[in-house]
Amino acid sequence: MDAEQLKRAAAERALAAVSSGMKVGLGTGSTARHFVALLGDRVRAGLDVVCVPTSEATRAQAEAEGIRLATLDDLGALDVTIDGADELDGELRLIKGGGGAHLREKIVACASQRMIVIADGSKRVATLGRFPLPIEVVPFGLEATRRAVARAIEASGATGELVLRSGPENAPFVTDGGHFILDAHLGRIDAPDALAAALACVPGVVEHGLFIGIATGAVLATAEGLVVLGDV
Ligand code: A5P
Repeated sequence: MDAEQLKRAAAERALAAVSSGMKVGLGTGSTARHFVALLGDRVRAGLDVVCVPTSEATRAQAEAEGIRLATLDDLGALDVTIDGADELDGELRLIKGGGGAHLREKIVACASQRMIVIADGSKRVATLGRFPLPIEVVPFGLEATRRAVARAIEASGATGELVLRSGPENAPFVTDGGHFILDAHLGRIDAPDALAAALACVPGVVEHGLFIGIATGAVLATAEGLVVLGDV
């Protein structure tokens, strides 16, 4: 199976966690895209769910699929969120935000009773950090925030370069919330809890891509079959 088939297989398995009457968070990214497409098939076959998208891209796809949408404020607590990840470790700690959607993704996942990660097996790592950690920041005072983020990273025991993410025509990438992203190229994050706590204290940081204690389960698709972690 190629990477897209693996992502689709993981998404298909996660559909088993969704039943009529549920309020569902829809993730962002190429794996979540498979899930939304498969969910659209089920909705057209009669599944009755109402969903909250985590990005404008996912909103557009879900609308095109005919999936009923609402805001998080309309629905309050959600039953489950299904989303991809850039990395996950054996404790279901994640790095997210490769697509720049981790702010809304974290808000939606934290408002859900369960968060199920769907990914191909290559996303599983022993130690987080090979994937650059996305840190969403407000444009105002960017250089001051960058210096404070660098100090927070150092205080947590990690080291590495901070790169302002580029968007079209070499302008900074702008998130759905109108913010910039600093990608922290750390190589390894030995103390994710300490780093998450340190980043959360930096003025100008809107949200970082470490998801700790949020995912409740994961489906990883490998060439040898599906691997399920936690509660799915
Ligand atoms: C979006 O910002 C991310 O958090 C994605 O969920 C993550 O990058 C996984 O994307 P893929 O499924 O495309 O790898």
